[in-house]
Amino acid sequence: MRNLDLAGGGITERAETGFLRDLRLALSKPPHAISPKYFYDACGSRLFDQICDLPEYYPTRTEWGILSDRAAEIAAATGPNIELIEFGAGSLSKVRLLLNELRPRRYLPFDISTEHLHRAAQGLKAEFPWLNVEPVAGDYTTSVDLPPAQSGARRVGFFPGSTIGNFSPREALDFLRRAAQELRGGGLLIGADLLKDPAVLHAAYNDSKGVTAEFNKNLLARANRELGADFDLSQWWHSAFFNPALSRIEMHLISRSDQRVNLAGTTFEVAEGFSLHTENSYKYSIEGLQALAALAGFQPDKVWTDERNFFSVHWLVAP
Ligand code: AVI
Repeated sequence: MRNLDLAGGGITERAETGFLRDLRLALSKPPHAISPKYFYDACGSRLFDQICDLPEYYPTRTEWGILSDRAAEIAAATGPNIELIEFGAGSLSKVRLLLNELRPRRYLPFDISTEHLHRAAQGLKAEFPWLNVEPVAGDYTTSVDLPPAQSGARRVGFFPGSTIGNFSPREALDFLRRAAQELRGGGLLIGADLLKDPAVLHAAYNDSKGVTAEFNKNLLARANRELGADFDLSQWWHSAFFNPALSRIEMHLISRSDQRVNLAGTTFEVAEGFSLHTENSYKYSIEGLQALAALAGFQPDKVWTDERNFFSVHWLVAP
């Protein structure tokens, strides 16, 4: 791809938002990849909620089933006197399945979106009046900086949804290392999607209603809304496929034609077939996830799965 810099009065390098900087970089240079975190503006978050309800997208439903069926066993593993810390807590829906069994002394939902987090925390308090909820705003992918634990309480992390699958192996290891440190004396309850028949995986990321395609293209729609870009959405294909060598679903946006795209004063000449890599979703084996956790300093303990072995929930002890 050639990059015709017509900038002039465009947004200066220093004032660029993370999204603009990262999108500009992804369009300019190989590997032409951008972080999936940019999917999640209000529209993308709504589309993701719709994905979770799709018949083909099994992870949410399956993890939900494991957590609700095994809540008592999970509570027996995590033990009493705990503070529960949820990473990337979002709408706080899955934790509701565990609270009555876990009975944490304190619940600390950790999320980047402060406003959404506070609203969700209020709703949770109304439903569980006995619960001490203390939202923590921040980016848990770069640092895990928590308030001091209450005396005598052990810390239990909760990281559902197989969000770990959207991290590269290096990022996953770094996150687990930081979590193992922060949760010393307690542990981490983590959900991980499992390796399975590629046809099942393919269907989950290529749903028949096209919601996943819209979710993927929302990255370009968001650039048009927020950055004044002029992506023509009809000129991009959604592509999602299983890469067996790397055990991951890859999502890309593929240009259907030779086209020009304007982004904050720069015109990019995009060739037909150009691929913008938007997401990886790694699929683990139980042993693979446990090996990564052990490398990060955890002692892998109990694992719960569904009857089809589609999804796993792990209890990792932090010694
Ligand atoms: C949030 N994350 C675990 C989802 C996944 O399956 O990797 C995001 C997603 N991408 C396409 N569909 C769902």
